[in-house]
Amino acid sequence: MDIKRVKLQSFDDTPDGEIFIAEGGKNIPFDIKRIYYINQLDNPKAVRGKHAHKKLEQVIFCVNGSFAIDLDDGKEKTSILLDATSAGVRLPSHMWHTMHGFSKNCALLVLASDYFDESDYIRDYDEFIALCA
Ligand code: TYD
Repeated sequence: MDIKRVKLQSFDDTPDGEIFIAEGGKNIPFDIKRIYYINQLDNPKAVRGKHAHKKLEQVIFCVNGSFAIDLDDGKEKTSILLDATSAGVRLPSHMWHTMHGFSKNCALLVLASDYFDESDYIRDYDEFIALCA
């Protein structure tokens, strides 16, 4: 599977911080219409995602800690450990994704190409596989 990673430009001001820059239409391959983040992942058995999108494109980052993301394009499956702040993973449409294995204080950041629309979700795996055929 051809997984596309997105490397952010960064400036290292440590120990006074590090800055990472994402720009829609530049290093992010779409105009960003929505940003959401997930924190307080206190349950070590938490599993998130378990869906694909019909049209939405996203890039997912781990801005603290680490987690694993399982990717399935209907033909191939792979699993990636996200543990570097500067590199995200592209989630194109029709990519079933499941996030798990969240470390303590893990935080996820997602940049999305469109506003929230529940009708864009494919939440049933059999339906996803049928759409991929
Ligand atoms: P969901 O995308 O299923 O979360 P995850 O993929 O991380 O497991 O969203 C969880 C809930 O939050 C769902 O009921 C819809 C709601 N939600 C919004 O209302 N707006 C949003 O932008 C997002 C991402 C989720």
